[in-house]
Amino acid sequence: MAVYLVTGGAGFIGSHIVEALVRQGHQVRVLDNFSTGREDNLAAVRDQIDLRRADIRDAEGIGPCFEGVDYVVHEAALASVERSMTDPLTSNAVNIGGTLNVLVTGRNAGVRRVVFAGSSSAYGNGTALPRVESLESRPLSPYALTKVTGEHYCEMFMTLYGLETVSLRYFNIFGPRQNLNSQYSGVISIFLGAYLRGETPILYGDGEQMRDFTFVDNAVEATLRACTAPAAAGKIINIGAGKGQTLNQVIERLNDVLGSHLTPRHAPPRPGDVRSSYADISLARSILDYEPRIGFEEGLRRTVEWSRSQFASKGTV
Ligand code: UD1
Repeated sequence: MAVYLVTGGAGFIGSHIVEALVRQGHQVRVLDNFSTGREDNLAAVRDQIDLRRADIRDAEGIGPCFEGVDYVVHEAALASVERSMTDPLTSNAVNIGGTLNVLVTGRNAGVRRVVFAGSSSAYGNGTALPRVESLESRPLSPYALTKVTGEHYCEMFMTLYGLETVSLRYFNIFGPRQNLNSQYSGVISIFLGAYLRGETPILYGDGEQMRDFTFVDNAVEATLRACTAPAAAGKIINIGAGKGQTLNQVIERLNDVLGSHLTPRHAPPRPGDVRSSYADISLARSILDYEPRIGFEEGLRRTVEWSRSQFASKGTV
């Protein structure tokens, strides 16, 4: 049993990580400022965790959360390419300033390792597919830049201070608890939310952009392995399903699962948008013994089921 600190532990991916750690019998502390995270996400484990409200932009405020911690899983961030285009200052402050605070505080507290939630957006629009970690990073948006900078800081803290760090480049994670009612959420949840509210979703571009949609449980498993796998220290590792799908294909699958005919309205492509992206997951396979065990369609079914239950219990989403 070890002590884990999950920053952003009340958020979409973070709360799934917290649950998995509790299931494994670890002692779990959660740090969240509840700006996008929600205490509801932790309902199943609320009495088994140490939940602290703090903001990673506040270096002093987060200090006590790190006392006695072995592993830090750093998920706190402001997601969304679009949000970062609208408000680059806040994305920068949280994702870069906040990450630096987490690294400094982790180093000072003597934690064993920090695992950082990076992003596939690091690759930008290079032509090589699948995306392999040896490719040059080419951020196209402030969000992508913040995530690449986080990776650089992680590498630097390992080189300069001997703090073990791992950066995981998550590829378009989806699943239960992703926000159904925010323009800054992932596209699958945005479409599901619109469907349940009886609205018409917007499809930016021709729908032929490709993404590696990865079910959240797969990312959680990879993240837990990254905390302890000896060979992961100092690495940047892709975490995806290893397959690309166009948005048009995703809409078809969604219609199959929903038994409906969701027809989005088209709008011009969004600035900062990547055209095509899917992961080479060989490194994750070899270093983390990672395998994306839950397939896309099973993941989609579980996400639809959860979304419907949210709608049923609240009357809206
Ligand atoms: C990017 C990263 C991803 C990261 C995420 C965090 C890439 C390839 N992926 O996701 O790793 O986890 O940021 O926020 O950079 N779209 C619509 N209608 C909508 C919303 C989105 O058509 O209402 C389109 C977008 O224009 C985009 C695609 O759907 O082409 C996916 O968008 P989104 O879910 O926001 O994720 P990315 O920006 O791809």
